Amino acid sequence: VGLGTGDPELITVKAKRILFQVPLIFAPRSHEHDLSFAHSILHSLDGQLSAKVVELDFPMQKDTSSLIPYREKAVQEIWDHLSQGEDCAFVNEGDPFFYGTFIHVFETLRRLHPEVRVEVIPGISSLHAASACTLIPLAHGDEKVAVITSVLPEEILREVLKKFDIVIILKLSSFWDRVLNILGELDLMSKCTYVERSTMREERIIQDITKVKDVDYFSLLIMKK
Ligand SMILES: C[S@@+](CC[C@H](N)C(=O)[O-])C[C@H]1O[C@@H](n2cnc3c(N)ncnc32)[C@H](O)[C@@H]1O
Repeated sequence: VGLGTGDPELITVKAKRILFQVPLIFAPRSHEHDLSFAHSILHSLDGQLSAKVVELDFPMQKDTSSLIPYREKAVQEIWDHLSQGEDCAFVNEGDPFFYGTFIHVFETLRRLHPEVRVEVIPGISSLHAASACTLIPLAHGDEKVAVITSVLPEEILREVLKKFDIVIILKLSSFWDRVLNILGELDLMSKCTYVERSTMREERIIQDITKVKDVDYFSLLIMKK
């Protein structure tokens, strides 16, 4: 179930209905902000949730093969309930299928228990939230749009920034300096807007990206030529 990007009003009617219906809600914990995010959205829903909320660990590590046991353990825990006939929801920040932790759960579930019926309730993604809060239209006419993460190798970042009219760069926090260097080199800094915690109470939008300090985990960059 997609929870949207922070504003509790940006959750779909369907998502809300399902969260009130299921007896059990799983919430991923992959980085320090995950749980506070899921809990704050769940607490802000009108009315009292009757579901039990269970946290599942998804550590963030570069070596993805070491994550397989965590994913299998999480899916085992989910399966323990599903196999008893209990419907479960798995909540995900933004949209579950847009860089979401749920993708790992989904793939592991498909592999280990293909008989499980999965329904994905889309959520407002950071991409759309950031476009709306900055008033920057994302795609217009024949414009070429790319969505990437700053984790990609430098040459790919450079190539994408050169080729596309609009580039949205996610997961900025670890590689901010590198992104800044490439934008400077391509003379694109003035085309960028930094968006932090879009639609949350602490939302920040910064036009002069040289002024950005302490890049937050919930941040992205929109480059529009
Ligand atoms: C693991 S991805 C999850 C994306 C999420 N599923 C979505 O639909 O937007 C996490 C990255 O999404 C971006 N992000 C998520 N929420 C954001 C927000 N409210 N404001 C700005 N960027 C956000 C950041 O780049 C963050 O590092």
